[in-house]
Amino acid sequence: MNTIDTLNAHRSIRRYLPDPLPREDLDKILHAATRASSSGNMQTYSMIVTEDPERKAALHRLHFEQDMILEAPMLLTFVVDWHRMNRWCRLSGADPGYDNFLSFMVGFADALIAAQNAAIAAESLGYGICYMGTTLSSSTEIAKFLELPESVYPATTLVIGKANENPDPRARLPIAKIVHRERYETPSDEQVLETYRNRETEGWNRYMSFPDLAKLIQESGVRNLAEVYTKLKYTKDENREISTAMLELLRAKGFLDPATR
Ligand SMILES: Cc1cc2nc3c(=O)[nH]c(=O)nc-3n(C[C@H](O)[C@H](O)[C@H](O)COP(=O)(O)O)c2cc1C
Repeated sequence: MNTIDTLNAHRSIRRYLPDPLPREDLDKILHAATRASSSGNMQTYSMIVTEDPERKAALHRLHFEQDMILEAPMLLTFVVDWHRMNRWCRLSGADPGYDNFLSFMVGFADALIAAQNAAIAAESLGYGICYMGTTLSSSTEIAKFLELPESVYPATTLVIGKANENPDPRARLPIAKIVHRERYETPSDEQVLETYRNRETEGWNRYMSFPDLAKLIQESGVRNLAEVYTKLKYTKDENREISTAMLELLRAKGFLDPATR
């Protein structure tokens, strides 16, 4: 497949065969990740490969027991990494000023761009992938488990392996509502509702097709898709709790220089 076809064929895979990735395929994926653009070519990220079944089982618990982690042969965790750069600067007699939020954001962008390169490389080789947002939800525990030192922060994780399912591609919001010409065109209420009109049906039907979720939706009195997001999937309380933990970890890892707080 050419690159555009690979991109357009993307869908997240959540059921995997256990077949290990041949070393040469993993090497191709890791190499493609490092070919990503990065700020100043500093490559302020690292990738941690997890293949050991026991360590995968431990990460399965930290990633809210998402079973694809047990099924797939490997996980790739992308971390913001200024540790290497800071050490090199100091060893070279240079004084690194990278203990701040800007540097964290730069490293986060580098890590995510590298991750997406890895994802596309894996898909182009015929593998399935799924991102794990739980990397942020459990960042403190994952940082501890992966023994991340000062100036290193977990950014995201990719599950990679041979697909054991063939889901249809998921619909996207209408492209005309996503693209703005020359300046941001703030939509009217009616336009916002129109943007989500198809999603409301498609998303609702999808969630209702999972028996556990359908039961939860019925029992909780959730009335529409927006409430599925706000009351069940990503709640204010949980987001606040995770944000507090993330800020604490950012501080502990040295990304919140007191002078900039
Ligand atoms: C940063 C990020 C985190 C994600 N975290 C999860 C996750 O923890 N579990 C999961 O099943 N899917 C996860 N996904 C996959 C999304 O649910 C998926 O991309 C979205 O529903 C669109 O579906 P598609 O990728 O099949 O097109 C994540 C995606 C991204 C980009």
